[in-house]
Amino acid sequence: MPKVLTADQVRHYHEDGFHFPVSALSEAEAAECRRKLEDFEASQGGAITGRQKTKLYLLLTWLNDLVRHPTILDAVEDVLGPDILCWQSSFFTKEPDKKGFVSWHQDATYWGLSSPDVCTAWVAFTPSTLESGAMKAAPGTHKLEQLPHKDTFDPDNLLTRGQELGVDVDEDAAVDMVLKAGEISLHHVMLAHASAPNVTDDRRIGFAIRYIAPHVSQITGVPDSAMLVRGEDRYNNFEMETPPLSDLHPDAIALHDRITATREAFIYQGTDKGAHRGDGGVVIDS
Ligand code: NI
Repeated sequence: MPKVLTADQVRHYHEDGFHFPVSALSEAEAAECRRKLEDFEASQGGAITGRQKTKLYLLLTWLNDLVRHPTILDAVEDVLGPDILCWQSSFFTKEPDKKGFVSWHQDATYWGLSSPDVCTAWVAFTPSTLESGAMKAAPGTHKLEQLPHKDTFDPDNLLTRGQELGVDVDEDAAVDMVLKAGEISLHHVMLAHASAPNVTDDRRIGFAIRYIAPHVSQITGVPDSAMLVRGEDRYNNFEMETPPLSDLHPDAIALHDRITATREAFIYQGTDKGAHRGDGGVVIDS
């Protein structure tokens, strides 16, 4: 029996490549997440940049708690099974500047993972609506092969390389994944998806958590790491990450620095981009 989704919803996830909405946090809890993020940003003197854009759950205890949230893990378990690793996280923050967008892409493109048993739980800290730039998905595209992408490095594209699908997507068939604050969507690593700019007067904040089944491995040859968040890992394909003892604990900073520096090697593989883009933004991922 599934834990959060119905049997029908699990079947639809496997048929369509996504499922939404799942009620995970209360609106008050989502508002609290936003407040904590914005407190952290204020303490840093602005929006998170550089390597903090990736795996911030290794540095902040409240984000480590969030990637272990029981309802989120129950929903992920319904599609990935009982053993779950957290492999990555990134914020998709769209400022109310009408600029930031995400081109059509498949997440799997530059991740170097051996298997598509990879699911993103996208947590809405604020409402994700048509106006604020909700994710849209092309149903069933997760069943296609890996499709060709081209790198644009467009500065307004929130993806690491500004990568976009080199083939046209049927926009008329796309589904808008509108979420209330506190709701999550789930999507498959091969699903073609995109999103438009935020044309509201407020920020649109989403936190994408990438979960994998432990049998998945990194095939680029670059050392990779993950954190066991449910069940057991009988494969040991990844260096095991440890939660931060406290926010920005020195050991956590050292671990996060080393891991995020290493993984840039595969995120940027095949480009002439080094670790850093002009905006100091590194590895926001897709
Ligand atoms: Ni994506």
